[in-house]
Amino acid sequence: MRFARRLDQVPPYLFAEIERRLEAMQADGVDVISLGIGDPDLPTPPAVVEALRRAAGRSETHRYPSNRGLAAFREAVAGFYDHRFGVAIDPAAEVIPVLGGKEAVAHVALACLDPGDVCLSPDPGYPPYTSGPIFAGADVHYLPLAAAHGFMPQLDVIPPGIASKANLLYFNYPNNPTGAVVADRFFERAVSFARERGLVAIHDSAYTEIAFDGYRPPSFLATPGAKEVGAEIFSLSKGWNMTGWRIGWIAGNAEVVERYRRLKTNLDSGMFDALQLAGAAALTDARDFPHEMSEIYRRRRDLMIGALRAIGIDAEPPRATPYLWIRVPEGYDSASFTELVLAQAAVIVSPGPSFGPSGEGYVRISLTVPDDRLEEAAGRIASSLRVESRA
Ligand SMILES: Cc1ncc(COP(=O)(O)O)c(C=O)c1O
Repeated sequence: MRFARRLDQVPPYLFAEIERRLEAMQADGVDVISLGIGDPDLPTPPAVVEALRRAAGRSETHRYPSNRGLAAFREAVAGFYDHRFGVAIDPAAEVIPVLGGKEAVAHVALACLDPGDVCLSPDPGYPPYTSGPIFAGADVHYLPLAAAHGFMPQLDVIPPGIASKANLLYFNYPNNPTGAVVADRFFERAVSFARERGLVAIHDSAYTEIAFDGYRPPSFLATPGAKEVGAEIFSLSKGWNMTGWRIGWIAGNAEVVERYRRLKTNLDSGMFDALQLAGAAALTDARDFPHEMSEIYRRRRDLMIGALRAIGIDAEPPRATPYLWIRVPEGYDSASFTELVLAQAAVIVSPGPSFGPSGEGYVRISLTVPDDRLEEAAGRIASSLRVESRA
């Protein structure tokens, strides 16, 4: 058999590797704690589960859904944007449901990029910012996110020859994997950059609802001009513990949304109506649920930061996201430090380069495991990890 080459052009999906590793160690009887994947451990809000139960019991939800989505879902999104971000969304033209943020991140590339186009993707970044454009036949130009610049892409240093071929710009704040929050005026700069170059700006807003210490992450769509140049992808996965449900949306520029809908009508048949009704319940009846989740992650964040400090690793507590982005101690690289943590504490962390070359020198720790497991992991790191400088 012969298969398409495009699948060989993307690296193996990061978490598939981590899962394989975890299973192999568990098969050897090791009690491994995985802080690799960002998959919330706690249950979906009961009001959402109940809404799904009720909606699934109504036979009119059992037919093919439309890709445009139910009015009830789109109106719930518009109500949430107004209440949470002070942003007006036209539910008829400026939003459609997507089967999770990942689907939207990957497919928006198919809607916006032709072979030979360039996609500007953050590095380190969520892997579909690379695989989506590659599947579209486009080239990826990485925008390094460095600590020195607050993990913000430096749009003004993109070579003009690259910028002129770019037709899509991804950015993501609060950021995975760095935990960074958006710097003042970055969204404004992204609007000007996209307007000047005539490219589509896509903000991936997967983590706006997980934030700490009074910080409230903004929507890109609240930036003047944002709706003229692009759209925002939002997901219920992290804030409402709904990773398995696959509920999100793309909202913003009506033409981007319409192009996306046209693509989707050729690829899938929309989101199960009962899921859309449950998603609407999350945005109305369980609107404040992410606050409770944020408080849990804040506690876990402080616990793990304390454990790292106990072994001499001075990590900055992030203001958002369930992730810690940790600089590895002197003398280690990401891979050797990941190995050290695994060998001495039986804890899996994600090596930074899995998110792109600029992740070298870092590891990501996810806080999405039950409290007792996180306490156990923090305890093992604080008591058993001996970081010897190899410098
Ligand atoms: C930055 C980022 N964007 C999007 C997603 C997609 O989440 P989902 O497909 O579950 O909505 C994730 C999930 O980890 C993420 O980290």
